[in-house]
Amino acid sequence: MTYLLIGGTGKTGRRVDDRLTARGLPVRVGSRSGRPPFDWTADPDTWVPLFEGVTAAYVTYYPDLAFPGAARSLRAFAERATAAGVRRLVLLSGRGEEEAAVSELGVRQVAAEWTVVRATWFAQDFDEHFLLPPVLAGEIALPTDVPEPFVDLEDVADVVVAALTEPGHHGQVYELTGPRLVTFAEAAAEISAASGRPVRFTRVTPEECTARMVAGGVPAEEAEALTDLFARVLDGRNAHVTDDVKRVTGHPARDFRDYVRAAAATGVWDPR
Ligand SMILES: NC(=O)c1ccc[n+]([C@@H]2O[C@H](COP(=O)([O-])OP(=O)(O)OC[C@H]3O[C@@H](n4cnc5c(N)ncnc54)[C@H](OP(=O)(O)O)[C@@H]3O)[C@@H](O)[C@H]2O)c1
Repeated sequence: MTYLLIGGTGKTGRRVDDRLTARGLPVRVGSRSGRPPFDWTADPDTWVPLFEGVTAAYVTYYPDLAFPGAARSLRAFAERATAAGVRRLVLLSGRGEEEAAVSELGVRQVAAEWTVVRATWFAQDFDEHFLLPPVLAGEIALPTDVPEPFVDLEDVADVVVAALTEPGHHGQVYELTGPRLVTFAEAAAEISAASGRPVRFTRVTPEECTARMVAGGVPAEEAEALTDLFARVLDGRNAHVTDDVKRVTGHPARDFRDYVRAAAATGVWDPR
């Protein structure tokens, strides 16, 4: 009984891998660097060897399941996996994103057992993803600033592991948030205070936002899609917290302050 982790070397996947491996459970990573390799852009029939001996899979779509093509690929994935005997699919999704909800449908309609884990913006976006270059440059520049209940990926991984390994999660859509609303300006201030690196928030036009991400190393197509996503999702629709982390795991969701303290302690934001 092998657990397949699609995107198993990524931000959430490697945390899920750590937890399953620590329990002595067999894990197979599905990614371009995995063996056998897995590529979302390849012919879906090339994915089939990955499903050998697998009963449950965690699925993260790359780059973002709100982007064009994601719905088609996820349906093809669910069809191949289910036909090959994979009973349970746990899908990482985005909270409050209409396109992501469409992408979920392939999994929800095809898998024998499914769980959707809709996460709000990740706290770790500030030290492991697209917000790290802006933090290091001292300025987080976005077209808008609304309160978001940033979720800690340690909590996301705890929920995913529960859904993969325990009964009782079939047909559930979990909305994962942290316990507190934090604006991007407040996040910048908290990171400044913990790291000693001055970081401020600035409101910019969508075009400027895209240009800055590209300058920070994000591929142009992805930066444009992200800016588009900001315009649609950062409108306050997610400005409320849920208790789904506690409901599933039994422990309260980690606070953004604790995330900032832990990330600062790694030295990732240290002033040069
Ligand atoms: N960031 C947020 O705030 C947020 C919030 C809610 C939901 N989400 C969703 O989270 C998902 C991403 O999950 P994540 O952050 O855990 O992953 P991630 O850190 O973006 O990791 C990417 C993973 O995908 C693999 N990968 C990259 N290109 C690939 C390709 N063409 N084919 C197959 N695998 C590929 C990488 O490994 P290799 O390099 O070895 O291929 C790696 O394992 C997205 O669908 C996004 O919509 C994000």
